[in-house]
This record gives sequence, structure tokens and C-alpha cells, in this order.
Amino acid sequence: MDWVFFFGRFHVLVLHLPIGIILAVIALEAASRRRTLQRPESAGSFLWASAAVTSIVTVVLGYMHYFEGGFAGTSATVHMIAGTSVAVLATLAWLLRMWLTPLYARAQYGIGAVLVILLFVAGHYGGNLTHGPTFLAEYAPGPIRALAGLEPRRPPITELAAADPFLDVVRPMLRARCSSCHNSERQRGMLDLSTYETTLDGGEIGPAITPGNADDSELYYRITLARDHEDFMPAEGKTPLTDIETEIVRWWIDAGAPTETTLGDLDIANVRPLLRNQLDL
Ligand code: HEC
Repeated sequence: MDWVFFFGRFHVLVLHLPIGIILAVIALEAASRRRTLQRPESAGSFLWASAAVTSIVTVVLGYMHYFEGGFAGTSATVHMIAGTSVAVLATLAWLLRMWLTPLYARAQYGIGAVLVILLFVAGHYGGNLTHGPTFLAEYAPGPIRALAGLEPRRPPITELAAADPFLDVVRPMLRARCSSCHNSERQRGMLDLSTYETTLDGGEIGPAITPGNADDSELYYRITLARDHEDFMPAEGKTPLTDIETEIVRWWIDAGAPTETTLGDLDIANVRPLLRNQLDL
């Protein structure tokens, strides 16, 4: 099953290919109705021109997106440098192809190879920004996870009493519903929900959690607002936590936000069925 999940996450990468290729072929076929664009070799210039224009637009939009803030860590910088280089090189390729064809012929494979590498780098670090740096390798087999610098997977929970209240219960829900905007590389509201420490640290307006008091915790307040309230989390109409998950978060904060212990050592009388349900037991 992990293999299905692992490869499934490449969806968000591969999906860009049909978008680009379908638009390119529609535009190319339309353009080739003009006599001057009918020679097959003119397709190359046409596609390079399209690549140059669309990558410049993409880069400009990228800088605009960056101004929104909340980008932390090196992923944003690497993504920016690689993406800008793609636009510069694609434009250069187009200009050479048009006006210095012999030079283009000599540099063609070099340019192609460098572009493929830059696209890979830009795409990968861009993915880290949108999905968190742990997204791609999360379901990868152990050695690939280790290579990507991820901690080993938590062993599957077979017994309620053995589960860690944060690592096995609360963190997976935050990962699933909040990490696209609150990870180590993308910290909207300056909040990173990927680890215990950063979750407690909170963000712009202070601690996200007051251990022992859910009603006084910004995080609990945000997930229990009316869904159409502008401060409701997750923002932007993303799938919210379920009622069971919200109730578990409440219990966890009221219990003092414990971690590095097990449910067996905590008072779970009031939430046992919810926990069993959440952990598929
Ligand atoms: C689609 C993006 C997005 C998702 C998903 C998202 N948030 Fe947010 N979050 C934001 C933005 C943007 C802010 C900053 C603006 C604000 O404070 O409302 C923010 C701010 C916060 C804050 C306040 C931080 C501070 O100190 O200012 C908390 C707490 C929070 N989010 C919790 C969550 C939780 C819990 C989830 C998952 C259930 C979640 N968010 C999912 C975008 C998101």
C-alpha cells in the first residue's frame, strides 16, 4: 500500500506535463495553419518562444507570490534561483534558435541537459514549499526515507495503550490538514506545525497552545470557529479536521499537551472510543 501512496504523490509533479504539452500542441497546430509556420522545423522556434514567455510569466508571478511572505528556510531560495535560471536559459535558447542557428546547433544538447536539471531542482524545491519537505518521501521505503533525511516511520499502532499522544495521534492529523501551509519551509502566520516544539512555540501572535487549557489555546480556537469565519483553520476552504479529531485535540491540550509518553499512561476514559476510531483499531 505504501508503494501506491509513494508513487501517488508524484501526481502533483507529473500533472504539469499534460497541461504544458496539451496547450503546446493546440497552439502549435493553430499556428501551423499560417504558411510561414508550416515547415516542421519552425515548431522548435515556436515551442522555445512559448517556453520563454510562459517561464518568464511564471517567474514574475513567483516573485509576486513570495511577497505574500511566510517562506522560510532554504527551499524558497533554491527554488527561486533555479526557476529564474530556467526562464533565462529558455529565453536564451529561443534567441539562439532564431538568430544564431549554428551556435544553437552546437549548444543544443548542453542547454537541454542544463534545463532538465534546473527544472528538476526548481520543481523539487517548489514541491517542498507547497507540501512540506517530508511530503514526497513520506511513504517511500525506509532507505529512501533515510536518504531524504526523514526520521524512521512510526511503527503501525496495534494497541491503543502503546501510542504516543502527539506523534501517533495529533501530529498525523496536523500533517494531513495543516502542513501545506504550516511546515518548516512554509510558515504562514509564522507557524510551523511539523514538530512538537514548533507547534508549542506558535507563530506571529504567540503560543499556539496553552498546555492544560484548550479554551485558551489559539490552535483550538482556530479549528472551532464557524467554518466561514475568516480566521478558521485550515484556511482557504481546505478540508477541516473532523469532529472526532477536533475533540481529540481538545482532550490532548487539556491533558497538558503530552508527548514522549503513551496513551496507556494517560487518563483517556472520556476519549477512548474516539481514539480507537481515529487510530483504526
Ligand atoms: C491554506 C493554508 C492554511 C492551512 C491549510 C492552514 N492554515 Fe493556519 N494559517 C494560515 C495563514 C495564512 C495564517 C496567518 C493569517 C491568520 O493568522 O489567519 C494562519 C495562521 C494560523 C494560526 C495563528 C498563528 C499565529 O500565531 O499568528 C494558527 C494557530 C493556525 N493557523 C492553525 C492552523 C491549523 C491547526 C491548521 C490545520 C487544521 C491550519 N492552520 C491550516 C493558512 C493556513
